[in-house]
Formats: sequence, C-alpha cells, structure tokens
Amino acid sequence: KKAIANERKNCKADTIPSEMISIRNYLNELFGSAIKAAYPELSDPPIVITESTKVSFGDYQCNSAMPVSQLLKAKNIKASPRDVAVKILENLPNSFLINKTEIAGPGFINIFITNEYVVSAISTILKNGVFPPTTKKMRVVIDFSSPNVAKQMHVGHLRSTIIGESISRLLEFVGHDVLRLNHIGDWGTQFGMLIAHLEEMFPNYVKESPPIADLQAFYKESKIRFDNDEEFKKRAYDRVVKLQSGESNSRKAWQLICDVSRLEYQKVYKALDVTLEERGESFYQSRMENLVKELNERGFLEEDEGRKIMWGIKGEDYGGIPLTIIKSDGGFTYDTSDMATIRNRIEEEKGEWLVYVTDAGQSTHFKSLFSCARKVGILDSSKVRVDHVPFGVVLGEDGKKFKTRSGETVKLLDLLDEGLKRSLEKLKEKERDKFMTAEELRKAQENIAYGCIKYADLSKNRQNEYVFSFDKMLDDKGNTAVYLLYAYTRIKSIARNCGEEFIKNFDTIKKETKLELTHEKELKLAKVLIQFPDIIEKILKDLHVHYMCEFLYQISTTFTEFYDVCYCIEKNRQGEIVKINKSRILLCEATATVMAKCFDILGLKTLDKI
Ligand code: ARG
Repeated sequence: KKAIANERKNCKADTIPSEMISIRNYLNELFGSAIKAAYPELSDPPIVITESTKVSFGDYQCNSAMPVSQLLKAKNIKASPRDVAVKILENLPNSFLINKTEIAGPGFINIFITNEYVVSAISTILKNGVFPPTTKKMRVVIDFSSPNVAKQMHVGHLRSTIIGESISRLLEFVGHDVLRLNHIGDWGTQFGMLIAHLEEMFPNYVKESPPIADLQAFYKESKIRFDNDEEFKKRAYDRVVKLQSGESNSRKAWQLICDVSRLEYQKVYKALDVTLEERGESFYQSRMENLVKELNERGFLEEDEGRKIMWGIKGEDYGGIPLTIIKSDGGFTYDTSDMATIRNRIEEEKGEWLVYVTDAGQSTHFKSLFSCARKVGILDSSKVRVDHVPFGVVLGEDGKKFKTRSGETVKLLDLLDEGLKRSLEKLKEKERDKFMTAEELRKAQENIAYGCIKYADLSKNRQNEYVFSFDKMLDDKGNTAVYLLYAYTRIKSIARNCGEEFIKNFDTIKKETKLELTHEKELKLAKVLIQFPDIIEKILKDLHVHYMCEFLYQISTTFTEFYDVCYCIEKNRQGEIVKINKSRILLCEATATVMAKCFDILGLKTLDKI
C-alpha cells in the first residue's frame, strides 16, 4: 500500500504550470486520487472541496472524511472521520499548490495554498492576459432573443437577448464554435391576416414599399377584421396556405412585413452590441413537412380530438404534457417547429451542445421537446448536451407586470432611450460633463446606460422574477454596473498617475519587476483574482452568469480593502511622487485585466474616463 502511495506521489506533476488552472478542479483531482489510493475498496468515494469561510481555516477545505467514514461503516470497517482524514493526507501527492494542510474538528482538512503559485498565476495574467481553462472544443448552437414579427418585442425578449449574448460570449471565450440563432416567429397563422390586409390596403405593394412603419397598429387592424369579417377570414386562411406553399405574391407581402419588423429589432441589437444570425420559423417549413411525415410513418403520433399529438418517453419526468404536432386544421405549431429546430441543429448543424434561452413559462415545452427528441432518436443525451436556459418575468417597480403608465407594453427602443436620458442626467449631476469632450461624454452615456440595463439583468439569478428599476441600476453603490465601471476606471488610472515616464516604460517594468505579494491584503486580492478559471467552470456547468457579476463585485470590494491600506504611490506635501511600489502597481494592473475580461464576457464596455 505504502509503495502505491509513494508511486502516486511521484506521478503528479510537481511543477507550477505555465497557465492558470482551475484550483477547485485541481484539488478535486488531487484529493480524489488520494482518497482512491487510501480506500481502493470504495468504488465512487465523494470528493468534497469547498472554499474556506475563514482565513484561519486555510484557503480551501476538503470535507470528504465524514462521508467516507460513513461509507466504510456501511462496509463494516470502523474508522473515525479523523482517522480517515489522516489517511487521506498520508496518500496526498506532493503538489506545487499546497503549502500545508491541517486536520480540524471532527475531520475537516484545511488546505493552505502556496504563495509561489499565487505569484506565478498573477505573473501569468500580467504576461499573457486572461485565458480560459482548457476545454474540449464543441460546436454549440444557441437560440436567443427570438422575437415575433409584427408583435411587440418586449422586455422578455430583452432578457433573452442580454442573457443569450453573454452566454454566447462566454462559450466563444472558452473556445467553442458558436452559432447564434435568432429564431424569430415569422411563420404562424397571423401572417394570413397580415397579408390579406396588406393586399387590400396597399394593392401596389409588389412595386412600392407600403408605409406600415407601425406594424403593431397594422396587426391590430387586421385582427379586428379577421374576427368580424367572414369573407376576410377565409381569404386570410387562403393566404397562409399560399404563403406556406411558396406562392410568389404572398411571399413578397410576407417579406415586406418581416423587413419592417427586422428594422425595429436590429436597432436594439445595434445599440446593445448583440450579434445574431436570423433563422426564423419559416426556415423549417420543408423540414417540418418531412419530419411530420416520418413521425407519422413511424407511429409516434396519436389522434386527439382532431389534432395529432406526441408523448415523451414513458417514465421520464418531462411534465406529462404532449407536443401538438398537427393542429386540427392541418397546420403545424410552435412544438412542430421546435422538433425541427432540434433535428436541424443536431443533424445538419452538427451541434454537440444546444442552448435555448427563453422565459421560464416555456420550461415544460422544452422538457417535452427534449424527451420526444430522445424518443425518436434525434437526441442522444450521451453525445449531445441540451440546455433550456429559463428566466423569470420582468416586473415593474410596483411589483406588477412591467408596463407603461398607461398600461401598454413598453417599447424596447423607448426603454433604451430612457436609459440614455437617465445616464446623462446622472453624469451631469456629478459634473462629469465639465471634464469630458462631447465625444467622451456620449461614450460614457451609452456605455453606462446599456451597461446598467445589461448588468442589472445579468447580476440576478435568472430563474427569479426581476424588477426593472432605472433608479436601482444607476445607483453608484452596491453591485451595480455604475459602481463597477467607476471602480475599473479608477484602478486603470492608478498606473497613469505614476507619470508619463512610467507609462512609457510600463512594458519593461512589467517584465523586470519582481512581483512580491507579502501584505495580507495583497495576497487576499491576488487569491480572489486567480479564481477566474473556477468561475468560468462554474458557469459552464449551469449557465448562471450571475456568478461572474458576484465575482466582479468581490474583486472590486477586495481591491478597496487592499488600496485602503497598501500604498501604491507615495507623494510628498508638494504632491510630487517620491516612491512608486511597482509590484503593487502590477497587482492593480492584473486586477484591471481580470475585470476587463469579465466585463467583456458580460457584454459591458469599459471607459478610460468617467
Ligand atoms: N418566439 C418565441 C417567443 O417569443 C421564442 C422562441 C424561442 N426559440 C425556440 N426555438 N423556441 O416566445
């Protein structure tokens, strides 16, 4: 046994790696191998690594001794948790990461990491910037934003847009090949009435673009006619059939209507710097036809009061609601189109990971969808990862559904404009306009407004309801974009304050200065920064981006603790610089580098000057 342990000790690389590592993953592996070496009789021993809650408990803890002792007991082997902890430590390979370990209380193992690793990881950041942990490259297809043509793009779509954009950025950052799809609703029966109405109001539409800038109003008009005029209704149905079979004038009318809608939401994407490829429901028409035929032939469809439905896999916990594949009038549904999206994305796009970002109200839809896709063999869950990324509804400050004062749905462009107005007011309140050029001011106004709207959304657990409040998001205290953007700009300016000469030589200084982290607060800050890979890994597991916001906030508050007690630049009474602590300036620089990467992943733009 001892020999095995020794062998294990030697096989673990004992040198500091040249890239940043996920400390948690590394400790998991290290303690995992120790536990397995200590107790080969346990087939799947629990490896519990947590961050310590107190400095005296070290930096991390391994809390496996208690559950392992229980497992042994079940096998009639008596060993107290403390004995187990001792044995785990006897089998722990040497590592560059661990400075010392201690057993505390009933069998907690406190882990203290080496300063050498901390220094090395910060130096890596300074030298190479921030890189993601190595992951297997995957083809990811992510579906987000996805508004509906001719209907209002609402705050729910805004949430999907903001969350989807950030997840896409994260996936691209770790090296995945990401296809970002805007699954717009451009196909349903409502197009029949829109087209029929258009034909009558603007018979010349084939040659000339009709003035339907207000598609909403146009939609309402046609809906009234549809509900009250039998003749019109018939024509509307006829037009859907024509459209779906590809008849050219109906197609042309449809195209016009889609173009008007597109103009509207593209303005939103441009403002928020969102990239998307449009691939609406219409794209799947022929695919739906083929799929439905196949489902029919293979006997997956069941008759239900004139409709054809499909159930998920028996015994699977998918909510027990079937998909409606064919309506009683023969048309396809949202469910049908999503069966086609999942097939297209796996079979044609070769997606290995599919992500759908929508409101939580669609959770059962996606559960049924994934189950049905597994049932027919489209989805093999051992090969393809699928995630529905649900989010809660947006509420107004009164706690009710988010509406305008007069009770209508809020237009997104109006909302963005309001944000711009408010952020400018805020900047003027602080008299920032007196110190900035017009161009700088405009940039600050935009980055703050859009940054706040995004950050307020991203920083909350997306599963919960979310209260939209300009006052809260533009607050300069607490975990808000304003606070963090200011903090970042201030940190960036520290090096600038060292004078022109310093800035000119900054690259050389970076290379030649030996990083020394000795002060308790320096180490504390550095240990937060090097958790970056852990945060990324954590988000990749369940796609909860708010972990990144919590991390940013933690960096920023820890930085303040450091900056309050650690002088970076010392000046004399005349305000002349007498001493620069280069190592600390480097730590500031590393802090800014990590923060910048976080902002980038969240889709926030930083400012050199606020
Ligand atoms: N258009 C839908 C809506 O407004 C969202 C579509 C989401 N994507 C999907 N493949 N189902 O709710």
